[in-house]
Amino acid sequence: MAKDHRPEHYRAIWNGKPVLQEIYRDYYRRIAARCVPGRTLEVGGGSGNLKAALDQVTCTDILPASWLDAVADAQSLPFADGSFNNIVLVDVLHHLAIPRAFLCEAQRLLKPGGRIVMLEPAITPMSWPCYRYGHQEGVDFRQDPLGPQHRGGGHDPFEANQAMPTLLFGRFRGRFEREFPRLHLKELEKLSFFAYPLSGGFRPWTLLTASLARVFLRLENFVQPILGPVMAFRLLVVLEQR
Ligand SMILES: C[S@@+](CC[C@H](N)C(=O)[O-])C[C@H]1O[C@@H](n2cnc3c(N)ncnc32)[C@H](O)[C@@H]1O
Repeated sequence: MAKDHRPEHYRAIWNGKPVLQEIYRDYYRRIAARCVPGRTLEVGGGSGNLKAALDQVTCTDILPASWLDAVADAQSLPFADGSFNNIVLVDVLHHLAIPRAFLCEAQRLLKPGGRIVMLEPAITPMSWPCYRYGHQEGVDFRQDPLGPQHRGGGHDPFEANQAMPTLLFGRFRGRFEREFPRLHLKELEKLSFFAYPLSGGFRPWTLLTASLARVFLRLENFVQPILGPVMAFRLLVVLEQR
């Protein structure tokens, strides 16, 4: 089978885009602050940048790349029970065909008191048109995020349904809590308003410089509690293993 060069492609964009690094530094700082001390497993690590923000990270992805510690499917992870204190995902849950399978694996791998920390798209009145019309991944609210096979995530690791995390921790939250009682939803934060969309994310263009992004990020932090529900582009979720 031909090699998939997307990991190298996205890593090259990351390396050549200081504004993206600035925005992700802020994301990683928030993620690191929510991890408990000990070993962290990153699934869907892609360009592999979390290691710069956090110690003791095992970085994995389903697509091979020279910088990864292991190639692993988030839905069937090759590690022993109770071997991690944290599991981190950045933009991965909404790519999974069977999110339920990952949640079961996470319960198995986490020590008691361990955490899943994930950063995912948030679909809000402001972000919806951008994600729906400005991004190649779909936004489909008709899906059941806890169903046997969710459409969007699938054979290609970059297929996705960006609505999935918003559904799972919004409309389906009660069912998630009933079906995964060991995973306590400790925190659900809506963040990221202007800097991320204006940076173009992993696309080659940007409307911001890194220093302007720093100013925007400070401003966003200030207005986050008021604007989060209507304007956020990101959902930060912390689940703690009881
Ligand atoms: C949008 S990228 C995010 C990459 C990286 N976390 C980042 O923030 O730059 C989604 C990543 O999830 C990976 N992925 C998709 N399905 C996966 C699966 N079943 N198991 C593990 N990784 C998967 C993809 O290969 C890809 O690297």
